Amino acid sequence: MNAIALSGVKKFYREGDGIVHAVDGVDLTLAPGEFASLAGPSGSGKTTLLNLIGGLDRPDSGTLAIDGVFTNDRSDDQLAELRLQKIGFVFQAYNLIPVLTVFENVQFVLQAQGVPEREHSDRIAPILAELGLAEMAHRFPTQLSGGQQQRVAVARAIVGNPTIVLADEPTANLDSDTAAALLEMMRRLNRHQGITFLFSSHDPMVFDRASRVIKMRDGKIHEDARRD
Ligand SMILES: Nc1ncnc2c1ncn2[C@@H]1O[C@H](COP(=O)(O)OP(=O)(O)O)[C@@H](O)[C@H]1O
Ligand SMILES: [Mg+2]
Repeated sequence: MNAIALSGVKKFYREGDGIVHAVDGVDLTLAPGEFASLAGPSGSGKTTLLNLIGGLDRPDSGTLAIDGVFTNDRSDDQLAELRLQKIGFVFQAYNLIPVLTVFENVQFVLQAQGVPEREHSDRIAPILAELGLAEMAHRFPTQLSGGQQQRVAVARAIVGNPTIVLADEPTANLDSDTAAALLEMMRRLNRHQGITFLFSSHDPMVFDRASRVIKMRDGKIHEDARRD
């Protein structure tokens, strides 16, 4: 079974009198455990595609399945539940909650999933340790560097044991050392826990480490290169 399967997916936006074909007929499957990147110039549809896959948005046509579950005919609540259980999303702007500590930002997911409170520390502590954030657990996002905030965003994306992590330009705001460390860490999670990763990026460092680079232009996939 595919981790992600899209067939003929389209998403249009109205802009003034015209229509923008943000995603324009995408067929794409990712097998479980892939470590793949979307590439393409700004405006080529990468974010829109990730949002569709992540169930943050719905396609205008085409079908989409996550772990074999077709999402088209799901209600908004069912889609939110599927997202909560199966997908971790790392937003480009991190989207951390400023009034919560690092620990609480990550804990938020477990609360939403209904994981019993007594299990939270045992779930969160090893992830923060793995990400080099153990000392930061009680800090607030504004007390962290950009790279640290990005790692908290990754911790939040993986704490719920997702099968898929989607990350929109995860290295865009990081210096090259921090970006390399973050990619290394995501690769470890990919190898050890079998999590499927799909990034969007402009960053050659991301493409070098990806096992597959899917190039987009004008809302379409025009090249799909696998590497070993
Ligand atoms: N909410 C929106 N409303 C109108 N147009 C949008 C919206 N989101 C994206 N677009 C347009 O869709 C196209 C693809 O955008 P996007 O998916 O953000 O590309 P990328 O992430 O590759 O830069 C662009 O032309 C963009 O202007
Ligand atoms: Mg984008």
